[in-house]
Amino acid sequence: MATDAGDPLPRFPAGFLWGVSTSAHQIEGAADRRDPSVWDAFEAAPGRVKDGSTAAVACDHFHRHREDVALLAGLGVDAYRFSVSWPRVNSPGGLDFYDRLVDDLCAAGVRPVPTLFHWDLPVTEDWLDRDTAARFAEYVSVVADRLGDRVRKWITLNEPAEHTLLGHALGAHAPGRKLLFDALPVAHHQLLAHGLAVRALRAAGAGDIGIANSHGPTWPASDEPADTEAADFYDLLLNRLFADPLLLGEYPGGLGDLMPGDVEADLKVIAEPIDWYGVNYYAPTRVGAPQGAEIEFGGLTLPAELPFSVREIEGVPVTDFGWPVVPEGLTELLTGFRERYGDRLPPVVVTENGCSYEGLDDQDRITFLDGHVRALHRALAAGVDVRGYFVWSLLDNFEWAEGYQRRFGLVHVDYPTLKRTPKASYAWFRDMLRAQR
Ligand code: BGC
Repeated sequence: MATDAGDPLPRFPAGFLWGVSTSAHQIEGAADRRDPSVWDAFEAAPGRVKDGSTAAVACDHFHRHREDVALLAGLGVDAYRFSVSWPRVNSPGGLDFYDRLVDDLCAAGVRPVPTLFHWDLPVTEDWLDRDTAARFAEYVSVVADRLGDRVRKWITLNEPAEHTLLGHALGAHAPGRKLLFDALPVAHHQLLAHGLAVRALRAAGAGDIGIANSHGPTWPASDEPADTEAADFYDLLLNRLFADPLLLGEYPGGLGDLMPGDVEADLKVIAEPIDWYGVNYYAPTRVGAPQGAEIEFGGLTLPAELPFSVREIEGVPVTDFGWPVVPEGLTELLTGFRERYGDRLPPVVVTENGCSYEGLDDQDRITFLDGHVRALHRALAAGVDVRGYFVWSLLDNFEWAEGYQRRFGLVHVDYPTLKRTPKASYAWFRDMLRAQR
């Protein structure tokens, strides 16, 4: 943990973008007002979501978005990152909701930052199918034509790494496939979809485009070659597989040979220049050689046949989810990215950072955020061009396969009544933003 907790937080440059994030499927509800997504199908299958819940109502943000915009205004954030649901846009009048939301955000002085895909794929689509990438770009054009007069900043995809790994390799998320390394085309087609979406957004006049990729430092369990090699491989899969094609126009470690289609031509699309690079940071991962057994890790069961094993990081606090709290990992990650990618790395925005804790007086969340904001400032001081920071999340919400058991919000949601109650961390973040100004 940061040792300077309690000292005033360092000042960030004028114009630094402070915000909070959510995603459509996790908060909107109103499932009867949109087409089904792969998540609806996944939730309907018994045993997939741990508490047996669904996101049919979630936080009912669809009907209560005005109240949520007021919470954003009260917080004093510059920007709100939300996602547009492709299945909702596919349904009659679906875009009207986002039209109203964007109007309300603008009226409240909060900049709208939509993510165009945050895992809620229409059930009629499939990332194993290359054509899904082209259809995604068509949908992006429709959204950009409608919202582009008020939206300046866009995010193409959220965490294609998790969507590939959890949804298609391990089967822990929708659509629930367990393809292991045969899931690689899912990564390629999402990256292609990103590149095509960048082109579609540019064609619609957008000038401020990024992606939200999840990254974290990988720490080898020891100096033994078996551990360092396993850690390098994990880093390749979780970090470089999704960053190298975007920033360098190439796949790392020969992975391009395993991808479908005309990979060379696709990489030109994938590497379309972006204006900024979004990083979702939660924790580093300690990785060692395979141990020949299943591993329980962060709510996941990792199969024995993976060529690495995930180990506990000892001596640090953990969140209610069991995730290690390591703020300095954020400094390490960002300075490491700058070293790895040099001037190919555009300005960085932290598009997600947060933690799961129970309770309204969430002092642990305040400690977490305080430590990470300081760690971010250290990256800035070390010369990384960081332009913004978004907390995950505004509201407690549907935490995917965990259901409603994990609470990441600055605002508590009582699910039976849907009442919102700001937590201590909401007041802390509001006061921090005031002090920054
Ligand atoms: C995702 C969010 C999720 C959060 C906490 C990120 O991987 O983008 O949708 O709720 O982490 O697990």
